[in-house]
Amino acid sequence: MLLTLTDVLTNAEVAQARAWLADAPWEVGALTAGKQAASVKSNQQLPQDCEAAVNIRDMVLQALNANATFFSATLPKRIYPPRCNRYAGESNFFGNHIDGAIRMLGHDKRVRTDISCTLFLSEPDTYEGGELCIADTFGEQSIKLPAGSMVIYPGTSLHQVKPVTRGERLACFFWIESLVRSDEQRRLLYELDMSILNLRAQYGEIPEAVAQTGVYHNLLRMWADT
Ligand code: NI
Repeated sequence: MLLTLTDVLTNAEVAQARAWLADAPWEVGALTAGKQAASVKSNQQLPQDCEAAVNIRDMVLQALNANATFFSATLPKRIYPPRCNRYAGESNFFGNHIDGAIRMLGHDKRVRTDISCTLFLSEPDTYEGGELCIADTFGEQSIKLPAGSMVIYPGTSLHQVKPVTRGERLACFFWIESLVRSDEQRRLLYELDMSILNLRAQYGEIPEAVAQTGVYHNLLRMWADT
């Protein structure tokens, strides 16, 4: 499932993030990529523990925590902490690759990358190029969102970031290990949840809404791995 979530960050939060990034200590992005990805990766990333990275990570995690649609669509078990990247100047693209399946969290924790996420921090009219192109069974999608909005897509997808030929593209990227491993099952749960929300909004707490909420939880209980 490929899904766009709008206004995950407010305009004020995006402005704050960009201010933190203005004089941040960017480093070569290929340092953290696997061998295949490193050969096609030409961007910059923030070191995980610098002040700007820590501030933005905390702000994004807090925003995600308060976002019910994000929770319903991803059913997170573990979130690999959001990192920041920059495409500009000579370091302006990331060619076709599939993200590594496992990311280390510290020395001993692992995050399986079921879902990939990109949260845009630059307004689309401030840079040329930089589309996130995702190829999957649903065809190729070219994604370029307003600052503060994000896209989530299956970690299994082949994707690339097209060269940025003018301006700079700032973004946050991260991965989620979901309680529900299967993309198909997650999608069904998300669609059922949205349908129940609409049913309840239209008709109130009718017996059908109660019954379907029960079905949702029984499916989640059957499929979730906590
Ligand atoms: Ni990637």
